[in-house]
Amino acid sequence: MAADTGAGARSSDRAPVTTSTAADPAGTPLLRLSKVGKSFGPVQALTDIDLDIYPGEVVALVGDNGAGKSTLIKTISGIWAPDAGQEFWEGRPVTIRHPRDSAALGIATMYQDLALSDNLDIVQNMFLGRELMRGPLLDETSMELAARKTLADLSVTTVRSIRQPVGSLSGGQRQAVAVARAVLEKAKLVIMDEPTAALGVSQTAMVLNLVTSLKQQGVAVLLISHNLNDVFAVADRITALYLGRVAGTVRVADTDTQQAVQLITTGALAPVSHPSA
Ligand SMILES: Nc1ncnc2c1ncn2[C@@H]1O[C@H](COP(=O)(O)OP(=O)(O)OP(=O)(O)O)[C@@H](O)[C@H]1O
Ligand SMILES: [Mg+2]
Repeated sequence: MAADTGAGARSSDRAPVTTSTAADPAGTPLLRLSKVGKSFGPVQALTDIDLDIYPGEVVALVGDNGAGKSTLIKTISGIWAPDAGQEFWEGRPVTIRHPRDSAALGIATMYQDLALSDNLDIVQNMFLGRELMRGPLLDETSMELAARKTLADLSVTTVRSIRQPVGSLSGGQRQAVAVARAVLEKAKLVIMDEPTAALGVSQTAMVLNLVTSLKQQGVAVLLISHNLNDVFAVADRITALYLGRVAGTVRVADTDTQQAVQLITTGALAPVSHPSA
């Protein structure tokens, strides 16, 4: 269970850390959050959240238990409505109040249970609710071709048959099906909450490859992870939350595990010991 850290109460005087003036990529962010806040009754779960995600960028969202990571992605995906701040999508102000609002923008969110149907096969899961038709009949051939191509484009090679039920797949393969579904939906931003938490070494590697494949296809990824090895393997930038606030955003190229741990656990960084540019 998440430890309740009394989010926000003790960190109001803390300035977010940015390691270098070049921490932000150039251009218009795909998603920008400006001063976003969310409270649950007396619990201020998120305060003044500023976050940018650029097209094709992998941003890792890190922070201790109860820091606000899940609340933040639920706010982005429309499960919770923010009660302060503004969200922008491709430079335009947007109001995301329902999961269908985020889906319409091109945001696909993968929660840990992944919401796949175990009794349906891979193709059926990928096209669930958006089946291709040929006249009155399902166009199985086109769906199979598209499913195969999408998995191949993601370099997923371990699936034996795309007609096997999803319930028979490993955790990593299930992630692959969910990611493939997002690709078929033409998602521009894929949000993954702890995708490797329950996985072994080889399946973790497979999921990290999926993240890299998405990036190569120009899809942005917001990755929540407690595993800094994963974060350093795939992320371009790291945003750390501390007590419901952004403690800092750093480029992976400018930081190391020790600094990241410090940012997560104390909400602050010691002076950078190596040049940041
Ligand atoms: N539905 C809710 N009702 C009341 N408080 C909530 C609710 N959801 C989250 N919180 C509170 O908001 C704060 C942030 O919780 P959140 O689940 O976002 O943390 P997290 O960073 O995802 O933690 P973990 O790493 O443990 O998953 C916590 O203090 C939590 O108790
Ligand atoms: Mg969480």
